Amino acid sequence: MKRTLITSALPYANGYLHLGHVAGSFLPADLYARFMRLSGEKVLYVCGSDEYGVAISIAAEKEGVTPKDIIDKYHNANSDALSSFGMSYDIYSRTSIPRHVETTQEFFTDLLAKGYLAEKEEAQFYDADANMFLPDRYVEGTCPNCGYDKARGDQCDKCGAYYNQLDLKNPRSLVSGKTPVVKNTTHWYFKLGDFQQMLEEFITRNAATWKDNVVQQSRSWLNQGLSDRAITRDLTWGVPVPLERAKGKVIYVWFDAVLGYISATKEWAAQQAEKGRGKAEEWRDWWTLPAGKTQEEAEMRYIAFLGKDNIVFHAIMFPAMLYARGNYVLPTNVPANEFLNLEGEKFSKSRNWAIDLRDYFQDFPEPQHADALRYTLAMNMPENKDSDFTWRDFQARVNNELAAILGNFVNRSAQFLHKNFDGRVPHLPEAAKKLPEAWKLLVGDIVAYNVFTPDEAIEHLHPKYLHYFSEDDVRVLASLTLHTKRAAENYTNFRFRDAVTETMNIARAANKYFNDTAPWKSIKENRDDAAKALYVCSQLIRSLAIAFQPILPNTSTAILQMLGADATHLTQSWQTLAHPLLPEGAQTLVPTILFSKVEDEIVAREIAKLGRKDDIGSMNDEAKTAPSTNDQAPTNQVIKPQATNDQALISIDDFKNIQLRTGKILVAERVPKSEKLVKLQVDIGTETRQILAGIGKFYTPEELVGKVVTVLVNLKPAKLMGQESQGMLLAANMPDGSLSLVTPEKSGVEAGAEVR
Ligand code: MF3
Ligand code: ZN
Repeated sequence: MKRTLITSALPYANGYLHLGHVAGSFLPADLYARFMRLSGEKVLYVCGSDEYGVAISIAAEKEGVTPKDIIDKYHNANSDALSSFGMSYDIYSRTSIPRHVETTQEFFTDLLAKGYLAEKEEAQFYDADANMFLPDRYVEGTCPNCGYDKARGDQCDKCGAYYNQLDLKNPRSLVSGKTPVVKNTTHWYFKLGDFQQMLEEFITRNAATWKDNVVQQSRSWLNQGLSDRAITRDLTWGVPVPLERAKGKVIYVWFDAVLGYISATKEWAAQQAEKGRGKAEEWRDWWTLPAGKTQEEAEMRYIAFLGKDNIVFHAIMFPAMLYARGNYVLPTNVPANEFLNLEGEKFSKSRNWAIDLRDYFQDFPEPQHADALRYTLAMNMPENKDSDFTWRDFQARVNNELAAILGNFVNRSAQFLHKNFDGRVPHLPEAAKKLPEAWKLLVGDIVAYNVFTPDEAIEHLHPKYLHYFSEDDVRVLASLTLHTKRAAENYTNFRFRDAVTETMNIARAANKYFNDTAPWKSIKENRDDAAKALYVCSQLIRSLAIAFQPILPNTSTAILQMLGADATHLTQSWQTLAHPLLPEGAQTLVPTILFSKVEDEIVAREIAKLGRKDDIGSMNDEAKTAPSTNDQAPTNQVIKPQATNDQALISIDDFKNIQLRTGKILVAERVPKSEKLVKLQVDIGTETRQILAGIGKFYTPEELVGKVVTVLVNLKPAKLMGQESQGMLLAANMPDGSLSLVTPEKSGVEAGAEVR
């Protein structure tokens, strides 16, 4: 039986997901999965958090907590945000589960036994000050390929080159800032070179169906010649290398992360088995080939969705790993997206130029808003080049398309039904009783004629149809059929923007049909005509609910519910979406507004948030977040400004709970490895407090000493980068995003004075 396995790149659980992640690999995978399921395909879609590697340990260090705290916090937050977004994956797993550790170690052991791993002693950058080997993310330098001066240890974010650490020019340790020394260490290398030929054939075989950017990147890799890649690291956070003599070493995060897809599938199968659905071994149906069969013969497809920065791992490394293991499926396609920008600029958490998914849902909590975002992102998906999300475009998409076309058609048709037909799908006139049959034949003919436009359809039309259908009818049925067909072709070819555009074109045609047939007139002149038009409109509403299911799952459900139990019980499949399945006389419910308009003020509010340094005290650029596992704890050491209008009013007693005092800064020093944090000793009259403040970008330690500032003194102590902070300074936001400390206006105020 034909099966399609779908994955989205597993995001690191070190920060909140933003719209860039979503547009890059989650939304396309979800659209594809939903479309395939609707088409009757057997689909499994797995995803989860990537929880090892230095991305996580760096975040933990910055926030002064353990890696486990970090991954728990972000895994849960991200999985919640994704489910609000309407993701339909079968599981959102995580790589810290025992099953994943086992799976990874098994791969390692098996590849070692098969001779695909080589143990080598090799030189590596070593930070003599910090006493540690420097994994790739802990060094920065000049890219050997393009000269970009902030290239990472193993990969250049500018040109995408991927190299060995020692090839980096002018290396700097990100731990001490010094130039690292070169020292020997033992590691295990995956002999990627052994797979050169196999991968060349693999890429050539797929070149015609894969996106150009994926083929090109893969080819450029192959042209450089593949060489051994170290797959172990001198680190503590990761999957331990399963060898006695490798104590203190873990498996490289990229080697384990891709295997996360397999362990997620195992986890899913085990959970299913626990619920009495199938066997735990059924994960194999998706990943391993039946004995003696090729992947094509077994009809097993595997589609890996990802962003362009992950291409090499999915098009080269992972296929080699799967092939080396033997009898595993290889990716059938690796549809990689480019990047999404925001209001014309790159997403940047440190500049607060980002929209986190969970922030979006705080401002736009309703199910219709998830759909609005899905639609806007799908229409701006960075499929072939970088694209842009803007709030103005979001507003226009919602107001001019979702509300004005789709919402409007559904609403006015349904209103009309309630006003004139008792809310029921009109009965067809006696003479038109065979219309539903003729409708299905007509739809079939239009596909068969291979016509491109409704006009051509009318031209080729067999006269028998004119007995049932007016030109307007034929036109709208032709549009429905043709756009549906093209949407399907686009989905199949991973062209989601076009698929969604075609889907909206169905709604456009339906709206035009309502205008052209003008039932508000015919209801007075010839009730049969109005009845037929509204019969057609009712069917079109159902068709739209199905056609939009991949893109607007919440709206689709809302429409089907509005159409009543009859509609929800009908087969929901792509193949019959153009057929008139709603029975005559079916009772519909009073329509609700599907999409409310986005007002200018909302757009202004959202744009104003961008670039605002609300979270300046936060420790972590990647993860704009509280340095604590407890979300109630202070998020930073500088009070967070908030728009006054979204703040609840408090009583004077509430304010009395806040103890503010003046404090005199006695000592100030920078916190190593942090640009933002300064460590202060502050005299608050009764005692001296250690306070960590996120003002390092705006004040030098020298400037700070001697200043009298305002201190929140009854704040629960928090640990920031491993150091205790016992209070918080108040500061005001400057227009340029910098901060100005709040100090007494008159001189002569002593340390410890009450501020009220
Ligand atoms: N965590 C990686 C990133 O965010 C992606 C991992 S994809 C996987 O860039 F295939 F390795 F899981
Ligand atoms: Zn480069």
